[in-house]
Amino acid sequence: MIDPRKGLVMKDFETTEEIIIPNDPLERVIGQEEAIYIAKMAARQHRNLLLVGPPGTGKSMIAQALSLHLPRPTEEIVVVQNPQNPERPMVEIRTAEDVKKEQEEQKFAEGKLIDPKEAPVHVAERLGYRCPKCGAYSSPSEPVCPVCGQPKIVNTSNPFGDIFGSISAAFGISSAPPRVTTTVYEEGREKVIVYERAGEKIRVLDEKTLEKRREIEKKKPYKVIVPLNRKPFVLATGASETELLGDVRHDPYGGHPQLGTPPYKRVVAGAVHEAHQGVLFVDEITHLGDLQRHILTAMQEKKFPITGRNPQSAGAAVKVDDVPCDFILVAACNIQDLPNILSPLRSRIIGDGYEVLMETTMPDSEENRAKYVQFIAQEIVKDGKIPHAKRDAVIAIIEEGRRRAKAIDGKDKALTLRLRDLGGLIRAAGDLAVMEGSKYIEEKHVKRAIEIAMPVEDKIEKKYGSLESGMMRDVSKSQKSPYNYWNESGPDGYQ
Ligand SMILES: Nc1ncnc2c1ncn2[C@@H]1O[C@H](COP(=O)(O)OP(=O)(O)O)[C@@H](O)[C@H]1O
Ligand SMILES: [Mg+2]
Repeated sequence: MIDPRKGLVMKDFETTEEIIIPNDPLERVIGQEEAIYIAKMAARQHRNLLLVGPPGTGKSMIAQALSLHLPRPTEEIVVVQNPQNPERPMVEIRTAEDVKKEQEEQKFAEGKLIDPKEAPVHVAERLGYRCPKCGAYSSPSEPVCPVCGQPKIVNTSNPFGDIFGSISAAFGISSAPPRVTTTVYEEGREKVIVYERAGEKIRVLDEKTLEKRREIEKKKPYKVIVPLNRKPFVLATGASETELLGDVRHDPYGGHPQLGTPPYKRVVAGAVHEAHQGVLFVDEITHLGDLQRHILTAMQEKKFPITGRNPQSAGAAVKVDDVPCDFILVAACNIQDLPNILSPLRSRIIGDGYEVLMETTMPDSEENRAKYVQFIAQEIVKDGKIPHAKRDAVIAIIEEGRRRAKAIDGKDKALTLRLRDLGGLIRAAGDLAVMEGSKYIEEKHVKRAIEIAMPVEDKIEKKYGSLESGMMRDVSKSQKSPYNYWNESGPDGYQ
C-alpha cells in the first residue's frame, strides 16, 4: 500500500486500490491547508468559524471533521417536573458521573430475574405463568393454558382488569406490572418479598431493592432532552424555528393528570441545545433569514429557553428557562451571500473566531497531484458501487481538473478544488465501467464521462456555437429575456 501523503509519482502505482486513505477525516480534505489549520485551532480554542466559498470545496467536510477533534460532551441536559408549577419545568445539568451513579442505582433497584419455575407455585399461578389445573408453565400473555385448554386465572391487582390497563397503556400511562407480595420468615423476622411480572421471567424484589426503588421514586420525575452520549455535530441547514430552537409538543388532553402527558415530558430540544459542547453547523447560513437573530442570542447567552412555538397549541403555555447551548458555530456560505449575513452575527463570529475563504484551485505540482490521487481513491471507496481506477484513468481525471481550473477560475498550471463536481465525474466514469463489466475505471471511461457530465450550458455551446445562439433557437419571441424577480440581486432585490 502507498501513502500519498508521503509523496508519490504516477509510476508508483498501477491502480487506486494501492492507495492508503487517511483515517482522520480532516486529512481527507485536500488543498485547503489554511482552512484546516484554522479549523483545528477553532476546535482547540473553542472559537467560531465562517467558511466562505463556492459549493463543493469541502466546507461541510471541514465542519464535520472539526467536531471529531472536540472532547466528548461531559454534560447531559434534563428537564425536571416542577410540582408547584408544572408549566415551568426546570432544567438540570448532569455530569457523566451523575449519569453513571444513577445507572448503577437503577441496576440495584432492578431486582433479580428468575425463571417462573423457580418461583413459589402460588406466585407463578397468580402471575399467570402456571396453569392451576394441570401445572403446565406458559407465557402470561396466553390467557388459556396451551396444555389443558383451561383458562388461567390471572391476578391483575387492578379492579378494571386488563381493559383499563390497555386503555391507559394506549394513553401512555404506564400501569405498574402485576405483582404479588409475599412474606417469609428469615433470621427470626418477617420479610417482604415482591414478585413482579417481567415478560417471560419473574422479577424478585427483596427489602433492600424495594427500599432503593422508593428512594428513586421520591426523586422528581425528569426527561433527558440532550443525552450524554451524543454526536458533537449538529446540522441546522434550512432548519425551521422549532428544529433550531426546540419546542413543547401539543397535548390534546391539555395536560390532564391521568389522560394527558405532563408538560415536562413534552419538551423537545432544538439544534442549538443538541449542539451543546459540540459544533452547530449552519450551511448556507443566509437561508435562515430572520432566524439568524436567535443564533446570535444563543451564542451571546449560551442559554436559550424552550417554549411551545405554535400559539394554538397547549405547548405554548409551557416554558423552560436557561437551557444551556454552549456550541461552536460553524457557518458556511457562498461569496455572493456574504452581504446577507446578519451583521451583528458576523461581527460576533469575527470577534470570537475566524473567517476563512476556501481555495478554488491549487498549483499543479507533484505534491498536489499526489493529493488528487488520494482524493480519487477516497471518492471511489466512499461511493462503494464503482471499481478502482487505473493509472491512465487517474491521469485523465487530473488533466480534467487542470482544464477546469483554467476554464472556471482562469488559473493556469493549476488543479480545480471544486471537488464535488469532480467527484461526480469519477462516479460517472465508474458507472460506465460497471455497465461495461470492466474490472477497473479506464481512461476511455473518464473521456466518455467528461462528455456526459458536461454542464448543459457547455453542451449547448458545443452544439450551437454559443449559449446565446442556443437560446435564440429554443425560445419564441414572447419568452425571450423574461423578467424574473429571483434573478434580482442587491440588497433591495428579492431575498
Ligand atoms: N477539499 C476537499 N477534499 C476532498 N474532498 C472534497 C473536498 N471538497 C469537496 N470534496 C468532495 O465533495 C463532497 C462535497 O463537499 P462538501 O464538503 O459538502 O462541500 P461544500 O460544503 O463546500 O459544498 C465531499 O463529500 C467530498 O466527496
Ligand atoms: Mg456543503
